[in-house]
Amino acid sequence: MSVKQQESKVLITGATGFLGRNILFRLLEKDRKSRFSLIIRGLKDQSPRMRLHSILSSRYDEDQVRAYEKRIDLILGDVTWKHFGLDDRAYSRLADNMVRVIHAAASVSFNLPLNMARNINVSGTENLLDFAALAHKSGSLQRVDYLGTAYVAGKRKGIVKEDELDVGQKFNNTYEQTKFEAEKLIRERWEDLPVAIFRPSIIVGESSSGRTSSFNVMYFPLKIYIRGIWRWIPGSPDIPLDIVPVDFVCDALECIANDPGTIGSCFHLSASRNATTMGQVLSMAASYFGAKPIRFIHPAIYMNTIHPMACFLTFGRLHDMLINKAALYLPYFMNHLEFDNTHTMDVLQKMGLEAPRAEEYFARIFQFCIDTDWGKNLIEKDDRS
Ligand SMILES: NC(=O)c1ccc[n+]([C@@H]2O[C@H](COP(=O)([O-])OP(=O)(O)OC[C@H]3O[C@@H](n4cnc5c(N)ncnc54)[C@H](OP(=O)(O)O)[C@@H]3O)[C@@H](O)[C@H]2O)c1
Repeated sequence: MSVKQQESKVLITGATGFLGRNILFRLLEKDRKSRFSLIIRGLKDQSPRMRLHSILSSRYDEDQVRAYEKRIDLILGDVTWKHFGLDDRAYSRLADNMVRVIHAAASVSFNLPLNMARNINVSGTENLLDFAALAHKSGSLQRVDYLGTAYVAGKRKGIVKEDELDVGQKFNNTYEQTKFEAEKLIRERWEDLPVAIFRPSIIVGESSSGRTSSFNVMYFPLKIYIRGIWRWIPGSPDIPLDIVPVDFVCDALECIANDPGTIGSCFHLSASRNATTMGQVLSMAASYFGAKPIRFIHPAIYMNTIHPMACFLTFGRLHDMLINKAALYLPYFMNHLEFDNTHTMDVLQKMGLEAPRAEEYFARIFQFCIDTDWGKNLIEKDDRS
């Protein structure tokens, strides 16, 4: 048996994405014993190898990239395909010596039609679990780390605990709903498979540099506010905003994954007691960018007057930004939701790890937006954007 065959393997899905690539970087740097198998889709003009090369080159010099590429096995595939698109032999070979599976592939779009979101988020997760079962049967698998979202809470209000999932809640979009359905699937297999569930809240760039490859979620509403397109928003300044930097999410994930006692549990990778508020984020942004303060409007007034007026009076790109895109975020400005992270902190506090307060690092997040013109001038672009 060759040395390569004997090495323990880690499968990562979603490694071209914002979170997945950061998990990959962390593991390449810290886990020097393993080989990494990545399931990557091909793009029209870019093979998985080219995609991986450009992601690694965004972070490392050429020698380092070459060294890391040698520790990676690429699978041109799709998590929604049977056996990820591999033939039976290649599929069962993939399971050999597989010690860990990290499932970060998902559609994070809020407005994908339900059947399409289900296909990626639910069927994709089911396929991953079937693969994990094969690796488990062969005796190698130690754990599956599934990346969920704290927003499986949907339209719930108040405090959400890590043990809770289905309390009869409704959902704001197909993303929340299908991530909820996927988490349900996982919990049904907890008896047979060594799975842990991780629920990050809203992830932004690195706390030390502000660096991000993705300018969705918090970035888009912030950008249109800074550009003077959005001056009134529904909600109130004291609505909690639970935001975490990507380095915290990766550190917390690895810290928890190093503890075998964490299998069969769910962890909120959230800021929780360090969460900020809508008012704080917007006032930090106003002073950093020199923007006019935003006006908070009662949600009912906003929905009955400003929103219909904006629908009627805007057209073209402005209409698309305000009505088709920004409106998707409105529920998050109005709902008072807090994430209890007791299980997470039980593990993290032994390592002195906790999510930082936004005030400690948001200047760097803002500066990165300025330096890259909100992602337009990123040297290495998220190649899907
Ligand atoms: N970003 C956040 O604020 C946030 C917060 C909480 C939880 N999360 C969770 O974190 C995970 C990663 O999110 P992200 O922000 O990194 O998303 P992202 O940047 O959109 O990345 C998604 C990844 O999934 C891959 N993918 C999608 N469909 C696939 C398919 N059918 N087969 C194979 N790969 C597929 C994408 O591949 P392509 O490059 O080929 O499209 C990409 O690598 C998700 O599970 C999400 O629910 C994210």
